Amino acid sequence: MDEEFWPMIQDILDHPVFQKLRELPHHGPDNSVYDHSLATARRAYRLGRGLHMGREELKSLTRAALLHDFFGYDWHDGWYKEMVSRYRGVRRVKHMHAFLHGQIAAERAKLYFNLTPEQCAAIASHMFPLSTSLPRGRQAWLLTLADKMVASREMSVTAGRSMYGLWRRLFAYS
Ligand SMILES: [Fe+2]
Ligand SMILES: [Fe+2]
Repeated sequence: MDEEFWPMIQDILDHPVFQKLRELPHHGPDNSVYDHSLATARRAYRLGRGLHMGREELKSLTRAALLHDFFGYDWHDGWYKEMVSRYRGVRRVKHMHAFLHGQIAAERAKLYFNLTPEQCAAIASHMFPLSTSLPRGRQAWLLTLADKMVASREMSVTAGRSMYGLWRRLFAYS
């Protein structure tokens, strides 16, 4: 990794509230929101470098990518499912984690870190097309792309492990 990557994000990584993301599971038992956020920041940084972004824009993108899932709760928890189940139809869909968390992450990240309106908008729209706003500008599009690249890799690893576990159990009892 390029040596300018870490100084861009070190203050966020060191923040105790960001460290709490280590405790929140995300895409599988071995993946936390912290792991996923750092991997997304790395991917966004590499995509930005590939497009020869200037240092300030690259830093802005990398920091927004690190904070894109800064929603701060365990979306697998029963209380969240219970809250969603109180709604019906379209309102239920709108309260599902996938639709809601980009906006929550943007508002929460703004409370702790000094974000620009462009960074907030990029975070809020990162779940496109499951978002209430469209990505606008290249930071927003690169963030949504980086997140999808990382999430699909993480979920493939988890699905592969589950299939392997199932196969081993079936094989053991046959
Ligand atoms: Fe997300
Ligand atoms: Fe994400």
